[in-house]
Amino acid sequence: MSKSILVTGGAGYIGSHTVLQLLQGGFRVVVVDNLDNSSDIAIKRVAELAGEFGKNLSSQKIDLRDKDALTKIFSSTNFDAVIHFAGLKAVGESVQKPLHYYNNNLIGTITLLEVMAAHGCKKLVFSSSATVYGWPKEVPCTEESPLFAMNPYGRTKLIIEDICRDIQRGDPDWKIILLKYFNPVGAHSSGYIGEDPRGIPNNLMPFIQQVAVGRRPALTVYGTDYPTKDGTGVRDYIHVVDLADGHIAALQKLFEDSNIGCEVYNLGTGKGTSVLEMVAAFEKASGKKIPLVMAGRRPGDAAIVYASTAKAEKELKWKTNYGIEEMCRDQWNWASKNPYGYCGLPDNSN
Ligand code: NAD
Ligand code: UFG
Repeated sequence: MSKSILVTGGAGYIGSHTVLQLLQGGFRVVVVDNLDNSSDIAIKRVAELAGEFGKNLSSQKIDLRDKDALTKIFSSTNFDAVIHFAGLKAVGESVQKPLHYYNNNLIGTITLLEVMAAHGCKKLVFSSSATVYGWPKEVPCTEESPLFAMNPYGRTKLIIEDICRDIQRGDPDWKIILLKYFNPVGAHSSGYIGEDPRGIPNNLMPFIQQVAVGRRPALTVYGTDYPTKDGTGVRDYIHVVDLADGHIAALQKLFEDSNIGCEVYNLGTGKGTSVLEMVAAFEKASGKKIPLVMAGRRPGDAAIVYASTAKAEKELKWKTNYGIEEMCRDQWNWASKNPYGYCGLPDNSN
């Protein structure tokens, strides 16, 4: 009998790629998403890409804070585990609207955990972030590195991590994996699903992609005086399909390791790439010139962040398969086939 997984936020960027890998891995999947930052077209495309496994996918438009609706879902299916992606993630917006972030991310998560506990479903994979390493004094960041919230978004991640540790301490039946993602980029190799941010992209790759398709005139490079090889910020970019596979590895760990309590794993490649290196790789993959405007540092940005991957490699038996070249190739494949994302049309709010 195949296992049933509830995926919150499964219509989003990382969620949709993970749902596809789950279906192809033989899992049954129920997605709950309020579609605040996503489109149900993504779910339809995932079902198509999954072929015969598409029949094992269902989805419901639900806000996680709606306890009655969530309870109904748990009453109709016995879930073996939950992967919890649903949350708001724009750092700048979280500074402007902290209560909105605390309400959505914390109340949503607490409601989910309460409903899980009430139905005896106590296996969870949670999307945390490398943002909780703050401005790392030392790289690579290991799972033991000090944690620090640089903004309300990051604080919601830290608080949820603590909630997870607390509930597991209080009830050892809980088995929880906290995954700290570094910088997810790229798209499924079909070019059929990918990242489709609303409004002006905050992150590097979605911005580069919109310059490449002519939606924006130039990329602003934030900071050219960092103590890095070319002065620009260095990050650990990870192909979203590798990241999705990391969730399957985490689920296997939850199902197979009876001693696991609440564990944390970095999901990254362990390699740092600068903004200018990323631009060069994208230009090569796309054949497009990306005009640059050199600017000062973006407030809050760290100079160099990359992961130690040793713990995930050893304990989850997972490692990345794709490099920068494939990330840029697949990002461009998605962008060139879907220059305006899932809606297919210019969005006036942009
Ligand atoms: P995304 O915005 O594409 O996906 C999140 C999904 O959650 C969206 O489909 C949104 O509609 C849904 N959602 C939000 N609040 C909800 C609620 N209250 N009820 C139901 N659905 C809700 O983002 P993503 O990039 O796929 O990120 C997924 C998770 O990974 C998030 O928790 C994010 O914080 C975390 N993360 C992302 C990154 C990144 O760079 N993309 C890095 C580290 C961590
Ligand atoms: N950058 C630019 N121009 C842009 C956007 C970004 O030069 O238009 C630079 C940044 O200064 C940084 C690098 O590109 O040096 C990467 O920036 P991103 O915004 O893509 O990624 P960050 O590492 O700053 O942060 C993102 C999310 C965080 C998350 C982190 C790790 O915003 O929430 O990845 O997953 F924690």
